[in-house]
Amino acid sequence: MRRGFFITFEGGEGCGKSTHIRLLSEYFAGKGRECVVTREPGGTPLSEKIRELLLDAREGAGMSARTEILLFEAARAEHVDKLIRPSLDAGKIVICDRFYDSTSAYQGAARAIDSESVDFLNAFAAGSAAPDLTVVLDIDPREGLARARSRDGGAPDRMGSERLEFYQKVREGFLGLARRRPDRFAVVDSSGDKAETFGKILRAVEGRLP
Ligand code: TMP
Repeated sequence: MRRGFFITFEGGEGCGKSTHIRLLSEYFAGKGRECVVTREPGGTPLSEKIRELLLDAREGAGMSARTEILLFEAARAEHVDKLIRPSLDAGKIVICDRFYDSTSAYQGAARAIDSESVDFLNAFAAGSAAPDLTVVLDIDPREGLARARSRDGGAPDRMGSERLEFYQKVREGFLGLARRRPDRFAVVDSSGDKAETFGKILRAVEGRLP
């Protein structure tokens, strides 16, 4: 079986994932390497529907933490089965905006769902799709939220409407995961100059790409 390369980007609100994912996909295109860019929750028609329920639906206001994690995992299972796994099996590079580390940080560290349940659900939904490299774009949540709010015109979605302490726990969650798995994670400071940040991302990618 041919095997691609699976890169995930993680970080809090306003950390710059979209910009750097676009730059990285342009970099791969320039090298003639086929790459699939996708996101979570989302990436397939059904998973994008689940995204609407999670982030924007009126009915989603106040959903329970257990419902929330199951919806993220349902969107993920569909995404893995229909897009990520087939793309990797076809030997492509897959760049995904968030993956199961977001569940560990948001639903685990910040919503306080026990780690055994989170790990089980993550493993069940992801199946054999495990990231080869995870880039965490690290930024102080105050700065990230200000960036996100100016970008979204002051109208955050449901997951972007929590209190500051929630995003501080999310950040600690990501940094804790990265400390435990230095082989898979690269933590990149995203508060400075965009070109400098991208340079650090490229070094992490080139260092690990087969
Ligand atoms: P995005 O706005 O970066 O696309 O992410 C959507 C929101 O969903 C963001 O606030 C993070 C959150 N999220 C979770 O809480 N758990 C998850 O498993 C994923 C993938 C995202």
